[in-house]
Amino acid sequence: MKALVLSGGSGTRLRPFSYSMPKQLIPIANKPVLEHVLCNVRDLGVTEIGVIVGDRAAQIEAVIGDGSALGVEIVYIPQEEPLGLAHCVELARPFLGDDDFVMYLGDNMLPEGVERIAEQFASERPVAQVVVHKVSDPRAFGVAELAPDGRVERLVEKPQEPKSDLALIGVYFFTPAIHKAVAAIEPSARGELEITDAIQWLVANGDEVKASEYEGYWKDTGRIEDVLECNQKLLGDLKSAVKGEVDAASTLIGTVVVEAGAKVIGSRIEGPAVIGAGSVVTGSLIGPYTSIGKGVRLTGASIEYSIALDGATVSHVRSLHSSIIGRSATVGSSERNTRHHRLVVGDHARVEVAA
Ligand code: TTP
Repeated sequence: MKALVLSGGSGTRLRPFSYSMPKQLIPIANKPVLEHVLCNVRDLGVTEIGVIVGDRAAQIEAVIGDGSALGVEIVYIPQEEPLGLAHCVELARPFLGDDDFVMYLGDNMLPEGVERIAEQFASERPVAQVVVHKVSDPRAFGVAELAPDGRVERLVEKPQEPKSDLALIGVYFFTPAIHKAVAAIEPSARGELEITDAIQWLVANGDEVKASEYEGYWKDTGRIEDVLECNQKLLGDLKSAVKGEVDAASTLIGTVVVEAGAKVIGSRIEGPAVIGAGSVVTGSLIGPYTSIGKGVRLTGASIEYSIALDGATVSHVRSLHSSIIGRSATVGSSERNTRHHRLVVGDHARVEVAA
């Protein structure tokens, strides 16, 4: 079996970060979402992975490389425009050949893994097997209507009156029969070749499409709130490891990771929290549920339930909560001006100040 990981797309819901970086490189517990995804694929025993990349290909290749550091072999497949998930399958046909494959959305997190579902697909080998998850409001998703034996009877995209609460999530198992379905469908009203249409085409054609429920934690990290929530979940599963320097005036509480080369000086870190390599935390209160990336400078800061990306600086600002601070962004109190807030904020950025 091969894998196809989708790491293109436009990421409009994750602006402003997606203006300068692919959303699949947003760190969750200090590791890019895409790396979590590739590790999950590797855990299925699949090492030949095609990665669809869009106009941010260079950044993805710089971080993930040929995959050897993760124990996989990556072939990058460029997609000029995000023309849909089924378009990705069409583009990847030369890479996929006539092999079975798992298709995994590069921004979806299923930390409990899908090994059981992969085994079921390998032993029963239906034409396609989708992964579904119970959601409270299915109207925002592709919804699967199932027969009692798990066979998919119908897939409906964003139904107004859903007949089931099982949403399609970002992992699909396909036999090569999917290629004839992809070739048969037309672009949807939003101009994309939809994978739900291709799977529904198989169902209508009488092919056996099965669904398996994933009951673990699932998150599509497409929006800021999702990224923060997912970060909390993954930090909750962390194990303590202090490789950097922590001085005697600092206190670590609960599960804390201090990566090699990080320095914690006169600070209190309340876990779960991770301090990335080369970061310097001075006179600050960090956590709980906070990820600090690499080379971050925190001085007189207090920050909780948040993520600071690589190279960010926070100085003398207290009570930061549920925040994401971008790469090399600076948040600081004014040295000259104590009466006004001064903001230099990029397009689609969001600032909420305490009233
Ligand atoms: P989406 O999150 O559905 O689409 P998007 O990236 O365009 O995001 P937004 O809605 O915020 O603008 O895509 C799911 C995953 O598939 C994501 O990792 C991006 C990837 N993708 C591609 O690689 N090519 C595509 O043509 C599309 C539509 C998505």
